[in-house]
Amino acid sequence: MTDKYTQFVSRGLGKDIARKLGLPQPVVLRRHKAGQPLIEGPVLVQGTGSGADELASALLSWKLDVRRHAVPREKLGAIILVLDELARPGDLEQPVLTAASSLRDLAPNARVITVSRAASDSADPAVAAARQGVDGLLRSLAKELRAGATGNGILLANGAGTTSPSTLGALRFFLSGRSAFVDGQFLTVTSAAGHLPADADKPLAGRVAVVTGAARGIGAAIARTLHRDGATLIVVDIPAAGDRLAAVANEVRGTALQLDISRDDAGQRIIDHAVARHGRLDIVIHNAGITRDKLLANMDAGRWNSVIAVNIAAQLSINEALLASEHFRNSPRIVSVASTSGIAGNRGQTNYAASKGGVTGMVRATAPLLAAHGGSINAVAPGFIETEMTARIPFATRELARRLNSLQQGGRPDDVAEAIAFLASDAAGGISGEVLRVCGQNLVGA
Ligand code: NAI
Repeated sequence: MTDKYTQFVSRGLGKDIARKLGLPQPVVLRRHKAGQPLIEGPVLVQGTGSGADELASALLSWKLDVRRHAVPREKLGAIILVLDELARPGDLEQPVLTAASSLRDLAPNARVITVSRAASDSADPAVAAARQGVDGLLRSLAKELRAGATGNGILLANGAGTTSPSTLGALRFFLSGRSAFVDGQFLTVTSAAGHLPADADKPLAGRVAVVTGAARGIGAAIARTLHRDGATLIVVDIPAAGDRLAAVANEVRGTALQLDISRDDAGQRIIDHAVARHGRLDIVIHNAGITRDKLLANMDAGRWNSVIAVNIAAQLSINEALLASEHFRNSPRIVSVASTSGIAGNRGQTNYAASKGGVTGMVRATAPLLAAHGGSINAVAPGFIETEMTARIPFATRELARRLNSLQQGGRPDDVAEAIAFLASDAAGGISGEVLRVCGQNLVGA
Protein backbone atom coordinates (compact mmCIF):
# COMPACT_ATOMS: atom_id res chain seq x y z
CA MET A 1 0.00 0.00 0.00
CA THR A 2 1.16 3.52 -0.80
CA ASP A 3 1.05 5.57 2.45
CA LYS A 4 -2.00 7.83 2.94
CA TYR A 5 -0.06 11.11 2.67
CA THR A 6 1.37 10.08 -0.74
CA GLN A 7 -2.11 9.17 -1.96
CA PHE A 8 -3.49 12.53 -0.74
CA VAL A 9 -0.87 14.76 -2.38
CA SER A 10 -0.75 12.80 -5.64
CA ARG A 11 -3.85 14.41 -7.14
CA GLY A 12 -6.51 17.14 -7.01
CA LEU A 13 -6.86 19.35 -3.95
CA GLY A 14 -4.15 17.52 -1.98
CA LYS A 15 -1.63 18.20 -4.76
CA ASP A 16 -2.52 21.94 -4.82
CA ILE A 17 -2.27 22.25 -1.02
CA ALA A 18 1.14 20.51 -0.89
CA ARG A 19 2.49 22.71 -3.68
CA LYS A 20 1.29 25.96 -2.07
CA LEU A 21 2.67 25.04 1.36
CA GLY A 22 5.97 23.69 -0.01
CA LEU A 23 5.33 20.23 1.53
CA PRO A 24 6.98 17.04 0.19
CA GLN A 25 5.21 15.89 -2.98
CA PRO A 26 5.80 12.16 -3.37
CA VAL A 27 3.99 10.56 -6.31
CA VAL A 28 2.55 7.05 -6.60
CA LEU A 29 5.42 5.15 -8.22
CA ARG A 30 4.95 3.15 -11.42
CA ARG A 31 5.57 -0.42 -10.22
CA HIS A 32 5.70 -3.58 -12.31
CA LYS A 33 2.40 -5.13 -13.32
CA ALA A 34 1.88 -8.13 -15.61
CA GLY A 35 1.56 -7.09 -19.25
CA GLN A 36 2.84 -3.54 -18.61
CA PRO A 37 5.20 -2.10 -21.27
CA LEU A 38 8.86 -1.97 -20.19
CA ILE A 39 8.72 1.85 -20.25
CA GLU A 40 6.08 4.32 -21.40
CA GLY A 41 7.18 6.88 -23.99
CA PRO A 42 10.21 7.23 -26.26
CA VAL A 43 13.73 6.35 -25.07
CA LEU A 44 16.43 8.86 -26.00
CA VAL A 45 19.86 7.23 -26.37
CA GLN A 46 22.62 9.86 -26.25
CA GLY A 47 26.32 9.28 -26.91
CA THR A 48 28.34 9.31 -30.09
CA GLY A 49 30.55 6.20 -29.92
CA SER A 50 29.95 2.73 -31.36
CA GLY A 51 28.82 1.55 -27.90
CA ALA A 52 25.85 3.94 -28.05
CA ASP A 53 24.94 2.75 -31.57
CA GLU A 54 25.03 -0.90 -30.49
CA LEU A 55 22.95 -0.18 -27.42
CA ALA A 56 20.35 1.74 -29.46
CA SER A 57 20.09 -1.25 -31.87
CA ALA A 58 19.55 -3.62 -28.94
CA LEU A 59 16.76 -1.40 -27.59
CA LEU A 60 15.12 -1.30 -31.04
CA SER A 61 15.08 -5.11 -31.04
CA TRP A 62 13.00 -4.89 -27.81
CA LYS A 63 10.45 -2.89 -29.86
CA LEU A 64 11.08 0.29 -27.86
CA ASP A 65 10.47 3.70 -29.44
CA VAL A 66 14.15 4.76 -29.67
CA ARG A 67 15.41 8.28 -30.50
CA ARG A 68 19.04 9.19 -31.21
CA HIS A 69 18.24 12.94 -31.14
CA ALA A 70 15.74 14.82 -29.00
CA VAL A 71 12.54 16.05 -30.64
CA PRO A 72 11.67 19.43 -29.02
CA ARG A 73 8.92 19.22 -26.36
CA GLU A 74 8.30 15.50 -26.91
CA LYS A 75 7.63 13.74 -23.55
CA LEU A 76 10.32 11.11 -22.91
CA GLY A 77 10.07 7.83 -21.01
CA ALA A 78 13.83 7.63 -20.52
CA ILE A 79 17.20 9.14 -21.34
CA ILE A 80 20.11 6.72 -21.63
CA LEU A 81 23.42 8.53 -21.54
CA VAL A 82 26.22 6.37 -22.95
CA LEU A 83 29.57 7.67 -21.64
CA ASP A 84 31.77 4.65 -22.31
CA GLU A 85 34.57 6.52 -24.09
CA LEU A 86 35.50 9.21 -21.53
CA ALA A 87 39.23 10.01 -21.54
CA ARG A 88 39.33 13.23 -19.46
CA PRO A 89 36.87 15.29 -17.35
CA GLY A 90 36.43 17.80 -20.21
CA ASP A 91 34.77 15.00 -22.25
CA LEU A 92 31.73 15.14 -19.96
CA GLU A 93 30.54 18.57 -21.09
CA GLN A 94 29.13 17.88 -24.53
CA PRO A 95 27.06 14.73 -23.81
CA VAL A 96 25.97 15.87 -20.35
CA LEU A 97 24.79 19.33 -21.40
CA THR A 98 23.05 17.86 -24.46
CA ALA A 99 21.15 15.49 -22.15
CA ALA A 100 20.43 18.41 -19.79
CA SER A 101 18.41 20.16 -22.48
CA SER A 102 15.95 17.21 -22.52
CA LEU A 103 15.45 16.88 -18.76
CA ARG A 104 12.39 19.16 -18.71
CA ASP A 105 10.74 16.81 -21.21
CA LEU A 106 10.86 13.76 -18.93
CA ALA A 107 7.46 12.21 -18.23
CA PRO A 108 6.45 11.32 -14.63
CA ASN A 109 8.20 8.12 -13.44
CA ALA A 110 10.76 8.51 -16.24
CA ARG A 111 14.27 7.07 -16.08
CA VAL A 112 17.74 8.55 -16.59
CA ILE A 113 20.40 5.85 -16.91
CA THR A 114 24.11 6.38 -17.46
CA VAL A 115 26.28 3.65 -19.01
CA SER A 116 29.98 4.24 -18.36
CA ARG A 117 33.19 2.43 -17.46
CA ALA A 118 34.34 1.68 -13.90
CA ALA A 119 36.98 4.13 -12.67
CA SER A 120 38.78 1.28 -10.89
CA ASP A 121 39.53 -0.30 -14.28
CA SER A 122 41.93 2.50 -15.30
CA ALA A 123 45.37 3.42 -13.94
CA ASP A 124 45.37 6.69 -15.94
CA PRO A 125 44.51 9.58 -13.56
CA ALA A 126 42.62 11.61 -16.20
CA VAL A 127 40.57 8.62 -17.35
CA ALA A 128 39.81 7.60 -13.75
CA ALA A 129 38.82 11.20 -12.92
CA ALA A 130 36.42 11.40 -15.86
CA ARG A 131 34.87 8.03 -15.03
CA GLN A 132 34.52 8.78 -11.31
CA GLY A 133 32.94 12.11 -12.27
CA VAL A 134 29.94 10.17 -13.59
CA ASP A 135 29.38 8.92 -10.03
CA GLY A 136 28.97 12.40 -8.55
CA LEU A 137 27.03 13.63 -11.58
CA LEU A 138 24.46 10.82 -11.53
CA ARG A 139 23.92 10.85 -7.77
CA SER A 140 23.34 14.62 -7.86
CA LEU A 141 21.04 14.45 -10.87
CA ALA A 142 18.94 11.75 -9.17
CA LYS A 143 18.34 14.24 -6.34
CA GLU A 144 17.15 16.86 -8.86
CA LEU A 145 14.65 14.62 -10.68
CA ARG A 146 10.97 14.92 -9.71
CA ALA A 147 7.62 13.12 -10.05
CA GLY A 148 8.86 9.57 -9.43
CA ALA A 149 11.62 9.81 -12.03
CA THR A 150 14.84 8.02 -11.03
CA GLY A 151 18.50 8.18 -12.04
CA ASN A 152 20.73 5.10 -11.93
CA GLY A 153 23.99 4.06 -13.56
CA ILE A 154 25.57 0.96 -15.07
CA LEU A 155 29.35 0.60 -14.74
CA LEU A 156 31.23 -1.63 -17.16
CA ALA A 157 34.24 -3.48 -15.72
CA ASN A 158 36.67 -6.25 -16.76
CA GLY A 159 35.91 -5.92 -20.47
CA ALA A 160 32.10 -5.96 -20.19
CA GLY A 161 30.58 -3.90 -23.02
CA THR A 162 27.47 -1.83 -23.69
CA THR A 163 25.64 -4.89 -25.05
CA SER A 164 26.99 -7.59 -22.71
CA PRO A 165 24.11 -9.74 -21.38
CA SER A 166 24.12 -8.22 -17.90
CA THR A 167 24.46 -4.65 -19.22
CA LEU A 168 21.23 -5.24 -21.11
CA GLY A 169 19.77 -7.10 -18.12
CA ALA A 170 20.55 -4.18 -15.80
CA LEU A 171 19.18 -1.74 -18.38
CA ARG A 172 15.88 -3.65 -18.55
CA PHE A 173 15.70 -3.69 -14.75
CA PHE A 174 16.39 0.04 -14.41
CA LEU A 175 13.94 0.98 -17.20
CA SER A 176 11.14 -1.18 -15.80
CA GLY A 177 8.71 -0.69 -12.91
CA ARG A 178 10.68 -3.40 -11.07
CA SER A 179 13.25 -0.76 -10.02
CA ALA A 180 10.67 1.85 -8.85
CA PHE A 181 12.37 2.41 -5.44
CA VAL A 182 15.98 2.13 -6.69
CA ASP A 183 17.36 5.65 -7.14
CA GLY A 184 20.82 7.22 -7.32
CA GLN A 185 22.54 3.80 -7.50
CA PHE A 186 25.13 2.08 -9.68
CA LEU A 187 25.30 -1.55 -10.72
CA THR A 188 28.70 -2.79 -11.89
CA VAL A 189 28.72 -5.39 -14.65
CA THR A 190 31.72 -7.42 -13.56
CA SER A 191 31.98 -9.81 -16.53
CA ALA A 192 30.50 -10.67 -19.91
CA ALA A 193 28.77 -13.74 -18.38
CA GLY A 194 25.01 -14.27 -18.08
CA HIS A 195 22.24 -14.36 -20.64
CA LEU A 196 18.83 -12.79 -21.19
CA PRO A 197 15.94 -15.20 -20.55
CA ALA A 198 13.96 -16.68 -23.44
CA ASP A 199 10.73 -15.60 -21.69
CA ALA A 200 11.06 -12.12 -20.12
CA ASP A 201 7.99 -12.79 -17.92
CA LYS A 202 9.41 -16.05 -16.47
CA PRO A 203 13.15 -15.37 -16.03
CA LEU A 204 13.44 -17.99 -13.25
CA ALA A 205 11.58 -20.83 -15.02
CA GLY A 206 13.04 -24.24 -14.13
CA ARG A 207 15.09 -22.90 -11.19
CA VAL A 208 14.89 -24.25 -7.62
CA ALA A 209 15.10 -21.46 -5.02
CA VAL A 210 15.34 -21.30 -1.21
CA VAL A 211 14.21 -18.17 0.70
CA THR A 212 15.03 -17.91 4.42
CA GLY A 213 12.84 -15.89 6.82
CA ALA A 214 9.94 -16.31 4.37
CA ALA A 215 7.03 -16.53 6.84
CA ARG A 216 6.34 -12.78 6.68
CA GLY A 217 7.53 -9.33 5.61
CA ILE A 218 10.21 -8.98 2.95
CA GLY A 219 10.89 -12.75 2.86
CA ALA A 220 7.26 -13.58 2.01
CA ALA A 221 7.34 -10.90 -0.73
CA ILE A 222 10.55 -12.43 -2.14
CA ALA A 223 8.91 -15.89 -2.24
CA ARG A 224 5.87 -14.50 -4.10
CA THR A 225 8.03 -12.60 -6.60
CA LEU A 226 10.33 -15.56 -7.37
CA HIS A 227 7.21 -17.74 -7.81
CA ARG A 228 5.72 -15.17 -10.19
CA ASP A 229 8.99 -15.26 -12.16
CA GLY A 230 8.74 -19.05 -12.57
CA ALA A 231 10.95 -20.49 -9.76
CA THR A 232 10.10 -23.57 -7.68
CA LEU A 233 10.18 -22.49 -4.02
CA ILE A 234 11.41 -23.89 -0.72
CA VAL A 235 10.54 -21.48 2.09
CA VAL A 236 12.43 -21.55 5.40
CA ASP A 237 11.63 -20.06 8.81
CA ILE A 238 11.85 -20.91 12.52
CA PRO A 239 9.42 -23.55 13.90
CA ALA A 240 7.57 -20.86 15.93
CA ALA A 241 6.53 -19.25 12.61
CA GLY A 242 5.35 -22.62 11.23
CA ASP A 243 1.70 -21.68 10.53
CA ARG A 244 2.53 -18.51 8.62
CA LEU A 245 5.31 -20.35 6.79
CA ALA A 246 2.88 -23.08 5.70
CA ALA A 247 0.47 -20.42 4.41
CA VAL A 248 3.25 -18.81 2.31
CA ALA A 249 4.36 -22.24 1.02
CA ASN A 250 0.77 -23.01 -0.08
CA GLU A 251 0.43 -19.65 -1.77
CA VAL A 252 3.60 -20.11 -3.85
CA ARG A 253 2.96 -23.86 -4.36
CA GLY A 254 6.28 -24.64 -2.73
CA THR A 255 7.44 -26.63 0.29
CA ALA A 256 8.11 -25.40 3.82
CA LEU A 257 11.22 -26.21 5.85
CA GLN A 258 11.01 -25.29 9.54
CA LEU A 259 14.58 -24.54 10.50
CA ASP A 260 16.57 -22.16 12.69
CA ILE A 261 19.27 -21.02 10.23
CA SER A 262 21.77 -20.48 13.07
CA ARG A 263 21.95 -24.25 13.71
CA ASP A 264 25.32 -25.78 12.74
CA ASP A 265 23.70 -28.23 10.30
CA ALA A 266 21.37 -25.65 8.66
CA GLY A 267 23.24 -25.66 5.32
CA GLN A 268 23.13 -29.45 5.04
CA ARG A 269 19.43 -29.54 6.07
CA ILE A 270 18.59 -27.07 3.28
CA ILE A 271 20.57 -29.03 0.68
CA ASP A 272 19.03 -32.37 1.80
CA HIS A 273 15.49 -30.94 1.60
CA ALA A 274 16.10 -29.53 -1.91
CA VAL A 275 17.83 -32.66 -3.22
CA ALA A 276 15.13 -34.99 -1.84
CA ARG A 277 12.40 -33.05 -3.67
CA HIS A 278 14.07 -31.57 -6.73
CA GLY A 279 17.46 -33.27 -7.14
CA ARG A 280 19.35 -29.97 -6.83
CA LEU A 281 19.35 -26.34 -5.67
CA ASP A 282 20.00 -23.28 -7.88
CA ILE A 283 19.20 -20.11 -5.91
CA VAL A 284 19.56 -19.22 -2.21
CA ILE A 285 18.17 -15.97 -0.81
CA HIS A 286 19.56 -15.15 2.65
CA ASN A 287 16.77 -12.92 3.95
CA ALA A 288 16.22 -14.00 7.59
CA GLY A 289 17.44 -11.31 9.95
CA ILE A 290 16.82 -9.89 13.41
CA THR A 291 17.41 -6.64 15.29
CA ARG A 292 18.28 -6.30 19.01
CA ASP A 293 18.84 -2.53 19.22
CA LYS A 294 20.72 -0.83 22.10
CA LEU A 295 23.26 1.96 22.32
CA LEU A 296 26.71 0.37 22.38
CA ALA A 297 27.26 1.73 25.91
CA ASN A 298 24.33 -0.48 27.06
CA MET A 299 25.02 -3.47 24.80
CA ASP A 300 25.13 -6.96 26.36
CA ALA A 301 26.63 -10.16 24.95
CA GLY A 302 23.21 -11.74 24.36
CA ARG A 303 22.03 -8.95 22.05
CA TRP A 304 25.37 -8.71 20.27
CA ASN A 305 25.84 -12.44 19.69
CA SER A 306 22.29 -13.29 18.57
CA VAL A 307 22.37 -10.64 15.85
CA ILE A 308 25.80 -11.70 14.59
CA ALA A 309 24.75 -15.39 14.68
CA VAL A 310 21.56 -15.00 12.61
CA ASN A 311 22.47 -12.12 10.29
CA ILE A 312 25.97 -13.09 9.16
CA ALA A 313 27.49 -16.20 10.82
CA ALA A 314 24.56 -18.36 9.62
CA GLN A 315 24.96 -17.08 6.04
CA LEU A 316 28.71 -17.84 6.08
CA SER A 317 28.12 -21.35 7.40
CA ILE A 318 25.30 -22.13 4.91
CA ASN A 319 27.43 -20.81 2.03
CA GLU A 320 30.28 -23.10 3.10
CA ALA A 321 27.94 -26.11 2.79
CA LEU A 322 26.59 -24.86 -0.55
CA LEU A 323 30.08 -24.33 -2.01
CA ALA A 324 31.05 -27.87 -1.01
CA SER A 325 27.91 -29.45 -2.50
CA GLU A 326 27.84 -31.03 -5.97
CA HIS A 327 24.10 -30.19 -6.03
CA PHE A 328 24.76 -26.42 -6.16
CA ARG A 329 26.74 -26.24 -9.41
CA ASN A 330 24.24 -25.19 -12.11
CA SER A 331 24.98 -21.44 -12.49
CA PRO A 332 24.23 -21.07 -8.77
CA ARG A 333 23.02 -17.71 -7.47
CA ILE A 334 23.11 -16.37 -3.91
CA VAL A 335 21.50 -13.06 -2.94
CA SER A 336 21.81 -11.71 0.63
CA VAL A 337 19.76 -9.03 2.31
CA ALA A 338 22.05 -6.38 3.80
CA SER A 339 20.87 -2.95 5.00
CA THR A 340 21.67 0.73 4.51
CA SER A 341 22.43 0.66 8.28
CA GLY A 342 25.47 -1.47 7.43
CA ILE A 343 26.66 1.17 4.95
CA ALA A 344 25.77 4.51 6.58
CA GLY A 345 25.49 3.40 10.23
CA ASN A 346 22.49 3.88 12.49
CA ARG A 347 22.27 5.02 16.13
CA GLY A 348 21.41 2.11 18.40
CA GLN A 349 22.33 -0.51 15.79
CA THR A 350 26.07 -1.19 16.18
CA ASN A 351 25.44 -4.96 16.37
CA TYR A 352 23.02 -4.95 13.43
CA ALA A 353 25.24 -2.66 11.31
CA ALA A 354 28.29 -4.85 12.06
CA SER A 355 26.34 -7.90 10.86
CA LYS A 356 25.01 -6.16 7.74
CA GLY A 357 28.39 -4.59 6.92
CA GLY A 358 29.62 -8.17 7.28
CA VAL A 359 27.19 -9.27 4.56
CA THR A 360 28.75 -6.77 2.15
CA GLY A 361 32.26 -8.06 2.88
CA MET A 362 31.15 -11.69 2.65
CA VAL A 363 29.51 -11.16 -0.74
CA ARG A 364 32.63 -9.50 -2.19
CA ALA A 365 34.95 -12.28 -1.00
CA THR A 366 32.64 -15.15 -1.98
CA ALA A 367 32.16 -13.96 -5.59
CA PRO A 368 35.41 -15.52 -6.93
CA LEU A 369 34.58 -18.84 -5.22
CA LEU A 370 31.27 -19.12 -7.09
CA ALA A 371 32.69 -17.99 -10.44
CA ALA A 372 34.23 -21.43 -10.98
CA HIS A 373 30.70 -22.84 -11.45
CA GLY A 374 29.35 -19.90 -13.46
CA GLY A 375 27.73 -18.66 -10.26
CA SER A 376 27.21 -15.26 -8.68
CA ILE A 377 26.57 -13.71 -5.28
CA ASN A 378 25.26 -10.23 -4.54
CA ALA A 379 23.49 -8.29 -1.80
CA VAL A 380 20.54 -5.95 -1.72
CA ALA A 381 20.57 -3.23 0.95
CA PRO A 382 17.06 -1.94 1.73
CA GLY A 383 16.46 1.48 3.23
CA PHE A 384 13.10 2.41 4.85
CA ILE A 385 10.64 -0.31 3.87
CA GLU A 386 6.97 -0.37 4.98
CA THR A 387 6.80 -3.58 7.08
CA GLU A 388 5.40 -4.71 10.43
CA MET A 389 8.81 -3.78 11.87
CA THR A 390 8.80 -0.16 10.61
CA ALA A 391 5.05 0.25 11.38
CA ARG A 392 6.02 0.00 15.08
CA ILE A 393 8.33 3.07 14.91
CA PRO A 394 6.69 6.09 16.67
CA PHE A 395 4.69 8.28 14.23
CA ALA A 396 6.94 11.37 14.05
CA THR A 397 10.20 9.38 13.68
CA ARG A 398 8.58 7.11 11.09
CA GLU A 399 7.22 10.04 9.06
CA LEU A 400 10.68 11.67 9.04
CA ALA A 401 12.48 8.44 8.07
CA ARG A 402 9.96 7.80 5.32
CA ARG A 403 10.36 11.24 3.64
CA LEU A 404 14.18 11.54 3.86
CA ASN A 405 14.92 10.10 0.45
CA SER A 406 14.73 11.45 -3.09
CA LEU A 407 11.34 9.79 -3.71
CA GLN A 408 9.95 11.15 -0.38
CA GLN A 409 8.25 7.88 0.59
CA GLY A 410 8.98 4.45 2.05
CA GLY A 411 9.64 1.45 -0.16
CA ARG A 412 7.56 -1.72 -0.17
CA PRO A 413 8.67 -5.30 0.46
CA ASP A 414 7.93 -5.90 -3.26
CA ASP A 415 10.58 -3.33 -4.20
CA VAL A 416 13.26 -5.31 -2.36
CA ALA A 417 11.90 -8.55 -3.82
CA GLU A 418 12.10 -7.21 -7.39
CA ALA A 419 15.80 -6.31 -6.99
CA ILE A 420 16.50 -9.74 -5.52
CA ALA A 421 14.62 -11.53 -8.31
CA PHE A 422 16.69 -9.63 -10.88
CA LEU A 423 20.00 -10.50 -9.18
CA ALA A 424 18.90 -14.16 -8.91
CA SER A 425 18.23 -14.34 -12.66
CA ASP A 426 20.69 -15.31 -15.41
CA ALA A 427 20.28 -11.79 -16.85
CA ALA A 428 22.40 -10.70 -13.87
CA GLY A 429 24.91 -13.56 -14.28
CA GLY A 430 27.64 -11.05 -15.18
CA ILE A 431 27.14 -9.11 -11.92
CA SER A 432 28.85 -10.58 -8.84
CA GLY A 433 30.21 -9.35 -5.52
CA GLU A 434 28.04 -6.22 -5.69
CA VAL A 435 25.62 -4.47 -3.32
CA LEU A 436 22.52 -2.76 -4.70
CA ARG A 437 20.66 -0.33 -2.44
CA VAL A 438 16.87 -0.21 -2.60
CA CYS A 439 16.36 2.96 -0.59
CA GLY A 440 14.85 5.67 -2.84
CA GLN A 441 18.26 7.38 -2.46
CA ASN A 442 18.40 8.01 1.30
CA LEU A 443 19.42 11.63 1.83
CA VAL A 444 21.21 10.95 5.10
CA GLY A 445 24.42 8.93 5.34
CA ALA A 446 26.17 7.17 2.48
P1 NAI B 1 10.71 -9.57 9.78
O1 NAI B 1 11.12 -9.58 11.21
O2 NAI B 1 9.32 -9.14 9.43
O3 NAI B 1 10.95 -11.04 9.14
C1 NAI B 1 12.13 -11.79 9.36
C2 NAI B 1 11.79 -13.26 9.26
O4 NAI B 1 13.00 -13.98 9.53
C3 NAI B 1 10.74 -13.70 10.31
O5 NAI B 1 9.74 -14.48 9.69
C4 NAI B 1 11.58 -14.50 11.31
O6 NAI B 1 10.85 -15.53 11.95
C5 NAI B 1 12.69 -15.06 10.41
N1 NAI B 1 13.86 -15.45 11.20
C6 NAI B 1 14.45 -14.75 12.20
N2 NAI B 1 15.45 -15.48 12.75
C7 NAI B 1 15.50 -16.66 12.08
C8 NAI B 1 16.30 -17.82 12.19
N3 NAI B 1 17.26 -17.92 13.11
N4 NAI B 1 16.07 -18.85 11.36
C9 NAI B 1 15.09 -18.77 10.41
N5 NAI B 1 14.29 -17.69 10.25
C10 NAI B 1 14.49 -16.65 11.09
O7 NAI B 1 11.79 -8.67 9.02
P2 NAI B 1 11.73 -7.91 7.60
O8 NAI B 1 11.47 -6.48 7.86
O9 NAI B 1 10.88 -8.64 6.64
O10 NAI B 1 13.28 -8.02 7.17
C11 NAI B 1 13.80 -9.03 6.33
C12 NAI B 1 15.25 -8.75 6.07
O11 NAI B 1 15.42 -7.44 5.56
C13 NAI B 1 16.12 -8.82 7.33
O12 NAI B 1 17.38 -9.39 7.01
C14 NAI B 1 16.26 -7.35 7.72
O13 NAI B 1 17.41 -7.14 8.48
C15 NAI B 1 16.34 -6.71 6.35
N6 NAI B 1 16.01 -5.29 6.32
C16 NAI B 1 14.74 -4.81 6.59
C17 NAI B 1 14.45 -3.45 6.50
C18 NAI B 1 13.08 -2.88 6.74
O14 NAI B 1 12.90 -1.67 6.61
N7 NAI B 1 12.08 -3.68 7.11
C19 NAI B 1 15.51 -2.48 6.14
C20 NAI B 1 16.80 -3.09 5.88
C21 NAI B 1 17.01 -4.44 5.96
